[in-house]
Amino acid sequence: MDAFTIEGGRRLEGTTRINGSKNAALPLMAAALLTSEPVILRDVPDLADITNMKKLLDTLGCEVIESEKNAEPSLTLCARDQSQSHAHYDIVRTMRAGICVLGPMLARRGIARVSLPGGCAIGERPIDLHLRGLAALGAQISLDGGDVVATVPPQGLRGTTIFLGGPFGSTVLGTANVMSAAALAKGTSIIESAACEPEIVDLANLLNAMGARITGAGTPRITIEGVKSLHGATHIVIPDRIEAGTMMCAAAITNGSLTITNTPLDAMLAVTDRLVDLGVHIDILDNKDPMRATCRISSERILRPIRVTTQPHPGFPTDLQAQVMALLSIAEGNSIVTERIFPERFLHVAELGRMGAQLHRQGATVVVTGVRELHGAPVMASDLRASASLVIAALAARGTTVINRVYHIDRGYERLEHRLASLGAAITRTEGSA
Ligand code: EPU
Repeated sequence: MDAFTIEGGRRLEGTTRINGSKNAALPLMAAALLTSEPVILRDVPDLADITNMKKLLDTLGCEVIESEKNAEPSLTLCARDQSQSHAHYDIVRTMRAGICVLGPMLARRGIARVSLPGGCAIGERPIDLHLRGLAALGAQISLDGGDVVATVPPQGLRGTTIFLGGPFGSTVLGTANVMSAAALAKGTSIIESAACEPEIVDLANLLNAMGARITGAGTPRITIEGVKSLHGATHIVIPDRIEAGTMMCAAAITNGSLTITNTPLDAMLAVTDRLVDLGVHIDILDNKDPMRATCRISSERILRPIRVTTQPHPGFPTDLQAQVMALLSIAEGNSIVTERIFPERFLHVAELGRMGAQLHRQGATVVVTGVRELHGAPVMASDLRASASLVIAALAARGTTVINRVYHIDRGYERLEHRLASLGAAITRTEGSA
C-alpha cells in the first residue's frame, strides 16, 4: 500500500482549480441506468471511487466510454443492455455509493438486486430510509443472501408522499435513489425532509435535462411528476465543495496564499463562515457564477478558537469536520467540534494526537485545545476525510510525517500529492509500503 511522506513547514502558494465533485458524479453516473440513450458527463474526477462506479455500471450492461474533445475529457454512459440487475458484493463493498444504482435500476428494469454495502470506517451506515422510500413508491423489497432485492409490482411504481427524515436528518443517497425512481413512477411524488445538498440539485438538473419533471431540489420538499421515459443528455458535474474546503484548510494551516478557481462558494457558506471566524482571509476575486467562483485564501496562522457543529446542508458538512479539526489544533485556545451526522466519525482524533494535537473526545464532541505546533510522526490513514486531515496537519507539522494507506485519499482526491507539490509542499508518494 502506498504512503505519503510530508516534510512540514512549507507555505502553499499559487493557483489551483477544483475538480468535479465525487459525491455529485457518483449518483449522476448511476442515473445513466434510467435510459438506454447516452448520458454524457463532463468534469468527472479521476478517482478510485469513480473507477469502481464505472466497473459497476459495466457489469450492469452500461457501456462506459471515455473521450476527449478540445482537451475536455468526457464520460459517455450508455445502458443499452438492460438484462443485468445484480450489483455484486465484490464491487459494492469497495464503494458504498454503489447503493445509488438501486433506484435507477429498479425504475428502469423492474428489478434491482444490490449487495448491502455493510458498515464502514465512519459508522454503521444503514439504508433503511432508501428502502422505506422505494417501498412507499410500491416496490416490493426483500433481503436475500446479503442482497437487497427490489421489484416493481405489476401495476408499476406509483407516486406518493414520502417522508425521508431519519434520526440524523435526511439521507443524501437515499434522496437520490427515491428521486430517480420517482422520475419514472406513475403520478406525482413528494419527498418531504429531502436532503438539500447541492449534489441533489445537480442530480435533479441532470434528470430534468433527461426529460424528468422535478421541482424543489435543494429544499426539503422535492416534487416529482413521473414521466413515461427518459432520454440522453449532456451535463457538467458541479465542482467539489469538499475538495475546495480541504484546499482552504491546507492553505490556512501553512500560512499560505492560494488562489482557488472553480470554487462552489454558493454551496460553502457554512464553511466560509467558520473559516472567517477562525481568522482565515477569503477574498472573492470573481463571483460571476457563485458555483464556480475564484477566491484567494490566505492566513497569518493567527487562528481563533471556534465552535463547529456538522449538520445537513446548508450546515457545516461532516465531510470537512476532520480537516477543520486539524486546523483548529493550532488555534489559540479551546475549540469545540460536534459531529451530528456520523457520531462515530472521529478516526482522525487518535492519529492527530500522535502528531501532538490536544484533543479530548466525549461522545460526539471533541474539545480541541490549540497547541503552538504539531510535530511529524508515522500515522495511519483510515477513511477518506480522516486521511485528508492528516495531510493538512502534516503540511504544518515540524519534521516528517509518513501517512500509510493513502489509498483512502485516492478514493476522493485526484493526485493530491502532485497538486500539493505544485503549490510548494514537500510531499512524495512511496509505492507499496505496508
Ligand atoms: N441514515 C440512516 N438511514 C438511511 C440512510 C442514512 O439512518 O437509510 C443516516 C446515516 O447513518 C447518517 C445520516 O443518516 O447518520 C446521513 O447519511 P446519508 O445517507 O446522508 O449519507 P450517504 O448518502 O450515504 C453521502 C456522502 C458522504 C457524506 C454523507 C453526508 C456520497 C457518495 N457520500 O453519504 O460522503 O458524508 O452523504 O453528507 O455522496 C465522503 O465523501 O467522505 C462521504 C462519506
